[in-house]
Amino acid sequence: MNDALLGLFYVLAGARAFFYAIKEEVFVIIIKNATLIEEGTGNFIRRDLRIEQGLFTAISEDEIDDNQTSGETDVVIDALGRHVFPGFIDLHVHLREPGYTHKETIFTGTKACAKGGYTTVFCMPNTQPALDTAKVLNDLQRIIKKEACIHVIPVGAITKGIAGHELTDHKALIDAGAGALSDDGKTTMNSDFMIAAFENSKALNIPVMTHSEDHEVTKTYKETLFPTEAESDIVIRDIELCKRYGGHLHVSHVSSKASVDAIREAKKMGLHVTCEVAPHHFALSDANINPMSPLSKVNPPIRSEHDRLAILEAIADGTIDAIATDHAPHEMESKQGSFSDSSFGISGIETAFTIAYKVLVMGKIISLKRLIEMLTVNPAKIGGLSDRGKLQVGMKADLTVIDLNEVQIISSDRFISKGKNTPFNGFEGLGTVVMTLCEGNVVYKKEGQ
Ligand code: DOR
Ligand code: ZN
Repeated sequence: MNDALLGLFYVLAGARAFFYAIKEEVFVIIIKNATLIEEGTGNFIRRDLRIEQGLFTAISEDEIDDNQTSGETDVVIDALGRHVFPGFIDLHVHLREPGYTHKETIFTGTKACAKGGYTTVFCMPNTQPALDTAKVLNDLQRIIKKEACIHVIPVGAITKGIAGHELTDHKALIDAGAGALSDDGKTTMNSDFMIAAFENSKALNIPVMTHSEDHEVTKTYKETLFPTEAESDIVIRDIELCKRYGGHLHVSHVSSKASVDAIREAKKMGLHVTCEVAPHHFALSDANINPMSPLSKVNPPIRSEHDRLAILEAIADGTIDAIATDHAPHEMESKQGSFSDSSFGISGIETAFTIAYKVLVMGKIISLKRLIEMLTVNPAKIGGLSDRGKLQVGMKADLTVIDLNEVQIISSDRFISKGKNTPFNGFEGLGTVVMTLCEGNVVYKKEGQ
């Protein structure tokens, strides 16, 4: 078969086989010749995997053939020459529903996530209306059920309208499926509200995800980039509150040396503090792009090379736990005017892996094993998801198949996301997602595969 020579092929082995299946459909899928990373050693190992009813039911050194399955085998995927990793988990995306469907929808956003290798994402509450009541969350859950091709976990707002003036009902939000609390897009400036968030974090066992920006300072910085202290002062405040009131502080999109230094110290003290970094903050700085160009405008801003090097160090020493994209799709019209008029944000879900592999692994900052941990098991742990993030029998069959040798020149023309706003056009990445499965369903397949 020609496709086999290309390294990856499908054999449809039953009348029921249909790739874009209804989620509930029972399927038996066999993935042959996958290269996996062995837990513990980090060695590359070759395995066959069997998936039934959306779960891994076998991961075997020996060949699994079609006859060994309990039911009819629907799909056989030959992953020869490709790496199979657990589906990536992103703790920080903006999917824009409800309210900003001209920027992104659950449908387009999750398709873009699948193309990026992601199978679970946490979507931020700065929507219209904000994700601040059980009713808004219930309505969103209905859209997710109907439109999402991967798992979407909404993040509930700490304050009404993320405006910082009135608390939401945190318990009601968690009961309606919120997986974390955040006012992302803004900082909760009122410390009393943050104390309530930490107390509920402790009581309900969910993380408080913080956007760190002292608005008293940044409101005076419309035409230029705000200083790093405006971020780190809030990080330091939140570490102090977490220390006093307990709970889990997860610092979103860290961008500065002062912030990672504070987080490193907090971890040394044994506090439940974790953090994430976005690819644009470890790949870009004022040394390689103009942070004042509208396409590079993001919050927190692209920083100095000094800060970027400190971020790389914090990735290498484990201070930074996870990579999160802060996928922030915007219509191009809002990115074409002057710097002060343009929107903050980078559409990043489709480019994260190829940038991270090139900069962090090829750049010898961390091993591939650790990169995959930062994209899978670590965010699973932070998000309290014990049923995913690993390739293990009994876990959700969420995975991504990647060709690590394929060079990828980033071009936003090829994005599935409605947001084409990226400063990475022309960037030469390494590694391409060729297929993504969520609970055993193929949710993305690269053209020509
Ligand atoms: O650049 C950003 N864009 N930072 C944020 O905190 C919010 C996000 C958005 O919603 O566009
Ligand atoms: Zn943010």
